[in-house]
Formats: sequence, structure tokens, C-alpha cells
Amino acid sequence: MEAKQQSDQVQAEFLDAIETALDLTALETLRVSVLGRKGRLSELMRGLGALEPDQRRAAGLVFNLLKTELAQAIETRRATLESEGLLAELSKQGIDVTAPVRPEQSGTIHPVNQVLDEVTEIFADMGFSVAEGPDIETEFNNFTALNIPPEHPARQMHDTFYFRERSDGDRLLLRTHTSPVQIRTMTAEPPPHRIVIPGRTYRHDYDITHTPMFHQLEGLVIDRDIHMGHLKGCLTDFVRSFFEVEDLPLRFRPSYFPFTEPSAEVDIGCSIKDGARLIGVGEEWMEILGCGMVNPRVLHNCGLDPSEWQGFAFGVGIDRIAMLKYGIRDLRGFFDCDLRWLKNYGFAALDLPTIGQGLSR
Ligand code: DAH
Repeated sequence: MEAKQQSDQVQAEFLDAIETALDLTALETLRVSVLGRKGRLSELMRGLGALEPDQRRAAGLVFNLLKTELAQAIETRRATLESEGLLAELSKQGIDVTAPVRPEQSGTIHPVNQVLDEVTEIFADMGFSVAEGPDIETEFNNFTALNIPPEHPARQMHDTFYFRERSDGDRLLLRTHTSPVQIRTMTAEPPPHRIVIPGRTYRHDYDITHTPMFHQLEGLVIDRDIHMGHLKGCLTDFVRSFFEVEDLPLRFRPSYFPFTEPSAEVDIGCSIKDGARLIGVGEEWMEILGCGMVNPRVLHNCGLDPSEWQGFAFGVGIDRIAMLKYGIRDLRGFFDCDLRWLKNYGFAALDLPTIGQGLSR
């Protein structure tokens, strides 16, 4: 018989059967009986050896074409049967609500956010509310109104990022501290004020304790009879509850800020042992925030009468106190977005063990 005839015969016998095979087992039986080692087509191919070279080549081509065609048909049918099988299987199954949950990767709270939450919570408990302002500020709010005129050396000290000068000669800038929100608050609404202002701040600086973007928390209290005793009491309570050391030694050291008069810096007692800083024990002092009584000039710049209104303000570096409380040595890690760092220093979103204890009690 001619090779073509033989091939047609095998094709007629198997192709249709393959395309309509009822299940994967039937399909496999068909595959073995046509393409398997002892299958029909393999048998025909074995017969090629007895032919003359010319005939052998021609017949080989015909059989190979059929082999490819049948193999493809088998794969197509297999894919169809498999997906039908999966659908049928799925439609038979209900949802097993008792199945164990797949372990999920859970994120962590960034130490800066954690500390911002901790700090605002402490002040919220003291009756403060939260205010915010934009990262892009005017020179007036960031400097001038805070009693830092253009020629004032503090303007240079802040290493400011400026935007291009506008046609009216004004320059916008990235705020160098959160203090401009004091101005925004006092010019927007009448006193009394009792606010904290968390936010991002920017300075042209980069080393182990400085990054061009960092975080501050500003505080402002304005009322009719606020005095330095309020400032001291409020900040002492804050620092002690933040560091969770009840008798943490604190000192208010005279200092200078253009926007406060008198001004002070707050130091906390600490010591350094084996390279690690211990808070609340030892002979050393470490500065952690700036504060003071709001300068009457600032009140005046905001349209308030200093003989009627007075108050205090303070500014804390959030990243800095986060480093101190949680023993983080290099500030730059805060903003490198390295997952290994975040896993190590991050905080669980939910303190599940506490909830567990709460429920079982
Ligand atoms: N703005 C100051 C800074 O960035 C911090 C500061 C000091 C803020 C004293 C205040 C303050 O409100 O009273 O260095």
C-alpha cells in the first residue's frame, strides 16, 4: 500500500477519535495505540527501513506530518479536557471555611510613623489637637514672620532649598522646620491655640544624623495667662512618657531661637555604655528639643496683641527621638526603603498577643 493511503487510513481511524475523546484516560489510550512505541504509526515508521531510499524519504515525510498532526490534536484535546475537568471539580466543591489561612506577608509600621503616632497620642491626652501645613512655604512664613529677617544668620544656618525666584521677587522654599505652621495657625484663627504640628521638613544636609528630608513635631500654646511653668510641666510630662522613664532627669538650658524669648533647649540624662546609649541613667546630657515663650514680635507679626496673648512653642526632631528610643544608629536607613531594615526596625500593625490576652480574659 502507498504511504499516503496508509497515512490517510491511520488519520481516519484516530484523528476524529482523539478530537472527541471523552476523558483523559480514553485520550491516553488513543495516544499509546497510535504514537506509543508499539502504536500504529510507529509500526509504519519501522517499516520504512525496507524501502528504497527515494521511497523511504517520501514516506518518512508523510508519516512525520501525520505524527505532528496527531500529537497536536492530542495536546489540544488534553488542554480542553483538563480545563473542563477543573471547572467541573470546582463547581462540585463548596468553600471550605475551615481550611487554614495561607500565611500572608504582613507589612510593618515605619518607625517614623510609629513615633509620630506615639507623640501625637501623648499630646492628644494633654488636650492638644493636630494641625498641618504644606511642605512648600513662603519666605515670610518660614522666616520673616518668625522674626528671622533676610539678613539674619539663622537663614544661612538652615541650608534652605529654594525654588526659582518669582517675577514679584518672592521665593518659595521647602520648609526648613514646622514652625511656619505656627504663623499659619495664628493668622487663620483667633486664639486660644493648643496644637501640635507633625510634618516633613527639608535641609541641604546629609550624614549619619542628617538627611535632606526629616521630620519634626512643632507645638504651640497661646492663651491669656500661659507662662514658663506651663512649658516646663508640659514638656517634662511629654519627654518622660515618651521615653517611658518616670523620673527621667531633664534640664532646661538657656538657648536662643529668634521666634522665642526666652528660649531653652531641653536635655535628658543619659550615659553611653559599650557604644549604646542608655536613657535616664548616668552623668551625660543630651539635647532633644528646642522651646521657649513665643516672642512678642511673632505674636505682633500675626496680628495678635502681645499684652493680651502669650504662650509657648517647641520643636522636636521626630527621627532623632525615634533613633534614641529604639536604638537606631544611622538616620539614613530610615529613608533607604530596604525591606530588611523595615522588617528589623518596623512595628507590627496589630499587637495580636495583646488582643488575644484581652479576649481570653
Ligand atoms: N524650629 C526650630 C528648629 O528647627 C525648633 C524649635 C525651637 C521650634 C524652639 C520651636 C521653638 O517652636 O520654640 O531648629
